[in-house]
Amino acid sequence: MPHVYHLSLSDREIAGAQMALLPGDPARVEKIATTEPIKHGRFVTSHREFCTWLGFIRETPIVITSTGIGGSSTAIAVEELAQLGVKIFMRVGTTGAIQPHINIGDVVITTGAVRLDGASTHYAPIEYPAVANYEVVWALVQAARKLKIPYHVGITCSSATFYPGQERSDSFSQYIIKQLQGTKSEWERLGVLNYEMEAATLLTMCSALGLRAGCVCGVVDTPTQELITQESLQRAEQNAIQVAAKAMEIFLEKQL
Ligand code: URA
Repeated sequence: MPHVYHLSLSDREIAGAQMALLPGDPARVEKIATTEPIKHGRFVTSHREFCTWLGFIRETPIVITSTGIGGSSTAIAVEELAQLGVKIFMRVGTTGAIQPHINIGDVVITTGAVRLDGASTHYAPIEYPAVANYEVVWALVQAARKLKIPYHVGITCSSATFYPGQERSDSFSQYIIKQLQGTKSEWERLGVLNYEMEAATLLTMCSALGLRAGCVCGVVDTPTQELITQESLQRAEQNAIQVAAKAMEIFLEKQL
């Protein structure tokens, strides 16, 4: 009976689940576990930033575990869930838009990620691409279409930091080191859709380890609306959760 240290979890407690939904925020775990078509959601355990619930889509168990913020803690969550037998991972996050045509509440479905996360270099050299699994991306797109939630599909930038790495103007010192100055406009020019902090780690390690992963994030801020309000957070979170839960159902139905 494997029992993993950081998640404080055993394989018995997740009922042989092979699919995981991964929010960053521990408070989002219960919301996901109680969103249709996920049923019978129940709390399993919580240790540090890692909160775990179990839910079911028909008979199939789905484990929902928070990763905390950033690549290091995400890598721990994915490692330990993989040790317990999980093979398919969907991140359900929040994000800041880089492209001006993306609106608050829209969702971004990641096909690949710019690897500014740091942690992914411990799984594969930087030349190795951070790409999502095709079937996971497909299921997420179908889900967004069915739910009529506005979505964008493309490249995400995963930054190791929230403030300087994303060139935010609301940082403490307002200073951005030279190496990072101008990066936001460069990503915009190169068609990168959004900033978040975990996708590159998840996608790189999963493809390197022979696991399948994807990422959907709800947009909480935009280039013209940097301040994140409770209302935008709620809308973005709700949309990303609905798309991810529906995508899991589609994934199972189509036997992807
Ligand atoms: N998460 C990020 O990393 N950046 C944002 O702007 C919003 C959420």
